[in-house]
Amino acid sequence: MAFATRHFVRAASSSATTAAAKKLIVKHVTVIGGGLMGAGIAQVAAASGHTVVLVDQSDEILTKSTKGIEESLKRVTKKKFADKPEAGAEFIEKTLKNLTTSTDAVAVVHSTDLVIEAIVENQEMKNELFKRLDKFAPEHTIFASNTSSLQITQLANSTTRQDRFGGLHFFNPVPMMKLVEVIKTPMTSQKTFESLVDFSKAVGKSPVSCKDTPGFIVNRLLVPYMMEAVRLFERGDASKEDIDVAMKLGAGYPMGPFELLDYVGLDTSKYIIDGWHSLEPNNPLFAPSPLLNKLVEEKKLGKKTGEGFYKYK
Ligand code: NAI
Repeated sequence: MAFATRHFVRAASSSATTAAAKKLIVKHVTVIGGGLMGAGIAQVAAASGHTVVLVDQSDEILTKSTKGIEESLKRVTKKKFADKPEAGAEFIEKTLKNLTTSTDAVAVVHSTDLVIEAIVENQEMKNELFKRLDKFAPEHTIFASNTSSLQITQLANSTTRQDRFGGLHFFNPVPMMKLVEVIKTPMTSQKTFESLVDFSKAVGKSPVSCKDTPGFIVNRLLVPYMMEAVRLFERGDASKEDIDVAMKLGAGYPMGPFELLDYVGLDTSKYIIDGWHSLEPNNPLFAPSPLLNKLVEEKKLGKKTGEGFYKYK
């Protein structure tokens, strides 16, 4: 904590006074991680007129990301410009012009306003990345993480710019899902927070704000709900099929909890609940589930492996 405080004081006394003086209008964005989420974030940022550099570990991955973005843009355009194919083609061309790729994050952050990190969900890897980029990014640059389950404060503490650090939690698939959770840690400056809210609106999303609490809003409600469904099934109170039907027809949810768990991935769900359980071991909502653990051990991870709670072959 002393370490974090020392860093914070240093940042606050030197750079933050100037950097936080006025709200930042984000024009140039660096997205790190060209997977499912990063590619989607890069797409919506480029489509809304920002210049974007998408960074990943190899050209091979980036070629795949770009291909995915092109296909997604075609789908979006088909709907958005149904009667104006020429305008649609122009939109795709403009968007792709705004987007470049790189395998060298350090080399591209020198001129960026906002770094959005969307690499794998691993605290050490994220900390290492932010720590490295902190040395090379300009003073005014805001850092944001798209993490679903890690603490933003812990990530911010790997840098000297805790006041210019927040969470930007997009939802999958990014081009379709309207929500962004903007996470403000106790150290995030109001100007940084407002800049992130403005950026979220600029990319066509509806931002909501939340403190740096496990799961933020959506996952904090959704994950315990899914775990309760598993516990209901584990106790033998109802079948998984009936629980799914009940929540679809009785609560109007588009998917039942077991269908959703299989879609999200049982390994991902286990990772999240285990992390929260270690933070709050006495919270019954975060208790691990023997059944979920068993399925993960058997590599039945959901749709992606062909079997989870249900079979998909
Ligand atoms: P993914 O596995 O599809 O993509 C991660 C990408 O990061 C990979 O392409 C990998 O090569 C790259 N990468 C790893 N280390 C890197 C490094 N040091 N530098 C550059 N690139 C690196 O993961 P996904 O699903 O896109 O998740 C990314 C983040 O978004 C995670 O923190 C996750 O918790 C979060 N998230 C995921 C959601 C989802 O539904 N998948 C929803 C909301 C947030």
